[in-house]
Parts: sequence; structure tokens; C-alpha cells
Amino acid sequence: MSSLAGKVVSIVGAAGKDNMGQVIARRFAQEGAKVIVSGRHEHPLRELAEEIQGDWVLCDFSKKDSIDQMIDSILDRHGRLDVAINCTGWGLLIPMTENTEEQLDRMVDLQFKGPFFWLQKLLAAMDSTGGSIIQISSATATIMLDDHSAYMGTKAGTDHLIRCVANQYGEKGIRANSISPGVTETPMTADAMQSQALVETFRKCYPLGRVGTSEDIAAAAVFLASDECFMTGQNLQVNGGLTLRRNPLGKEIQEAMVAAGEIPAP
Ligand SMILES: NC(=O)c1ccc[n+]([C@@H]2O[C@H](COP(=O)([O-])OP(=O)(O)OC[C@H]3O[C@@H](n4cnc5c(N)ncnc54)[C@H](OP(=O)(O)O)[C@@H]3O)[C@@H](O)[C@H]2O)c1
Repeated sequence: MSSLAGKVVSIVGAAGKDNMGQVIARRFAQEGAKVIVSGRHEHPLRELAEEIQGDWVLCDFSKKDSIDQMIDSILDRHGRLDVAINCTGWGLLIPMTENTEEQLDRMVDLQFKGPFFWLQKLLAAMDSTGGSIIQISSATATIMLDDHSAYMGTKAGTDHLIRCVANQYGEKGIRANSISPGVTETPMTADAMQSQALVETFRKCYPLGRVGTSEDIAAAAVFLASDECFMTGQNLQVNGGLTLRRNPLGKEIQEAMVAAGEIPAP
């Protein structure tokens, strides 16, 4: 029997077709978990919940009240919460000099304040039972990518919140870890992935010779969620060795696209 059989698992950020949250939800359901998927759109959540014989709850992860309501309704309906995974994110690519205050507020609300309030609520929900908390971070919280500062800064800050939880609440049986994908084929990167030159420029940075898939991340999440995992406060680099090297620079990507005739020379 799988180590996840019977576990109640919340996955937020699972309302995008075949995105990382959805792939992780399907994998956890295959492992025998009762999966509750959340996000901002009812229709895809309802469809996925039916497919995996789970449940769904709406949640706007940039709003504290909505996060609290999501966790309260999971506890009401399912009695406990064993594993919580945050797959929300906003892949804003913009030069730091052009990043508006409005964009920064939106990023901080989603990628730092949301996780903070989520962790706060989870500490209460898991106080007497323990549990495993998994934050989907990014390789770019460790290595640089041009024009990604608000995203990278908030991801790095939230990795440190995960360590705060691990440090102070381990004795309650609560474990908290994060996973850092590199470039992964999901709706977030679908437009960029249209460029063969871009994909090839990134691919060369991966010692394992390919960019990532959501299935790679789901496999790591299964391990972190299982009772046999003796890890907490860690950031798993699940990116084919990318962080041993570096992401291509913006100008290297542009040069490759020009050379391939995908865009005109500047
Ligand atoms: N794909 C990559 O290359 C890559 C690389 C490194 C890290 N990651 C991380 O991996 C995770 C999964 O991303 P993904 O690649 O699957 O991208 P994705 O398809 O864009 O998924 C992110 C999800 O977050 C949701 N979301 C955004 N704002 C929200 C809010 N306020 N409340 C609730 N949900 C909200 C989006 O739904 P809406 O339709 O509601 O906006 C979307 O479904 C993210 O944390 C991302 O930062 C991705």
C-alpha cells in the first residue's frame, strides 16, 4: 500500500489545465490520497475533483480570509489535514526598472503574504496531528534569471518562512520543505516554449539534458509528503542539476532567437 493512502491533501494553484498543481493532484490521488484541489476557478476544480474522486474548494491565495476559509472547509468536510502543497505563482518577467508598485503589491500578496498566512493557518490546523507542508519554490530563488526580480525575491523570502516553520514547529510533528523546479513545461511557460531556440538555450544548461516536467516535481512531492521522509526546512532542487550551472542570460536567449530567425535583430 502507498505511504499516502488515506492522507488528506490540500493542493492550491490547481485550477489551470494540466498545470503543476493538477499533475501533482493526479499523482497524489494515484497514491491513494484524498485530494482537495483549490484555486480561483470553479469549473476546472470541479472537473479535476470528479476525475480524481477528490474534493474542491475555491481560494484566492492572495487573500488571508480566503485562505482561512479554504482550510476551515477542508477540516469541516474531511476532519483533518495531513499534507498541504502551494502551487500558486505568477511568472512575471519584466525589467526591475519597469516593475510598477501595483505589480509588486500583487506579487507580494500572492508569493509572500499568501504563503505567510497559509503557514500561519496550517500551524493551527496541524497543531495536534502534525503534517507535511510543501511550498513550490523556484530554481530562480537560488540562481539568477534576468528580468524576474519580484518573483525571485518573494520566492526566496518564502523559502526562509518554510525554514522558520521547520525550526520552530518540528516538535509538533510538522515538517515544512520547498521544491525548486527549473524551467518546466506548464501553462506558465507555454508561450516561451513555442521558441525552439529558447528551449534549446535552456536545455544546454541542464546536466541531465532536458528541462523539467510537472511529473518530476510530483515525484519529489510524494517523497516529501510520506511519513518515511526525515527532512524538514530543506529546499529540494528538482531541476536536473540546473543549479550547478546557471540560467542563460536574457541577451543569450535573444541572440539564439535572432540566429534561428525567430525574431528580427534588435
Ligand atoms: N513552470 C515553470 O517553469 C516553473 C519554474 C519554477 C517554479 N514554478 C512554480 O511552480 C508552481 C506551479 O506553476 P505552474 O508552472 O503550474 O504555473 P501556472 O500554470 O501558471 O500555475 C499557477 C497557478 O497559480 C494560480 N494563481 C495565481 N494567482 C492566484 C491566486 N491569487 N489565488 C489562487 N490561485 C492563483 C493560477 O491560476 P489563475 O488562473 O487563477 O491565475 C495558476 O493556476 C508555481 O509556484 C510556480 O511559481 C514554475
